Amino acid sequence: MVKVSPEIKAVFEKQRVIPMATADREARPNVILVGMWYWADDETLVVSDNYLNKTKANLDENPTVAFNGWSDRKSYQIKCKVHWETSGPRFEQIRKMATSGTRQFPGKAAVVCVVEEIFQGNGGDGAGKKLG
Ligand SMILES: Cc1cc2nc3c(=O)[nH]c(=O)nc-3n(C[C@H](O)[C@H](O)[C@H](O)COP(=O)(O)O)c2cc1C
Repeated sequence: MVKVSPEIKAVFEKQRVIPMATADREARPNVILVGMWYWADDETLVVSDNYLNKTKANLDENPTVAFNGWSDRKSYQIKCKVHWETSGPRFEQIRKMATSGTRQFPGKAAVVCVVEEIFQGNGGDGAGKKLG
């Protein structure tokens, strides 16, 4: 686990809709967009399972995920270990996000993504450099 700085968290928050990449056990990749998520703390990004399909199948086989955030000309990749929660405070928070807006979403589970690695996502000097 590594700590995600406030600056890096803000880059993801500002982009809001972020790509989420998974892979199955044969390493076939899949990428989706997710917009319903929040930072639970400095090392944990929690996504709402509203419609996850191939993504869920992949995570059941291979519980790792990569995200990329980009805003204000800054970009970061984060790579995480994943587990699912269907009770407890993180699930309650996701349910609230899913059901409290004008449009209702399923909020079936909290996909708890614990950050293990952070990389620079920009080009130029330090492109792809491991930051944590
Ligand atoms: C802008 C946008 C935001 C989305 N946010 C979420 C989300 O927060 N949670 C979710 O389960 N699906 C979300 N989706 C749907 C997924 O991107 C995707 O369609 C779904 O997971 C099915 O794809 P899969 O079979 O590859 O998992 C969103 C789609 C779009 C276009």
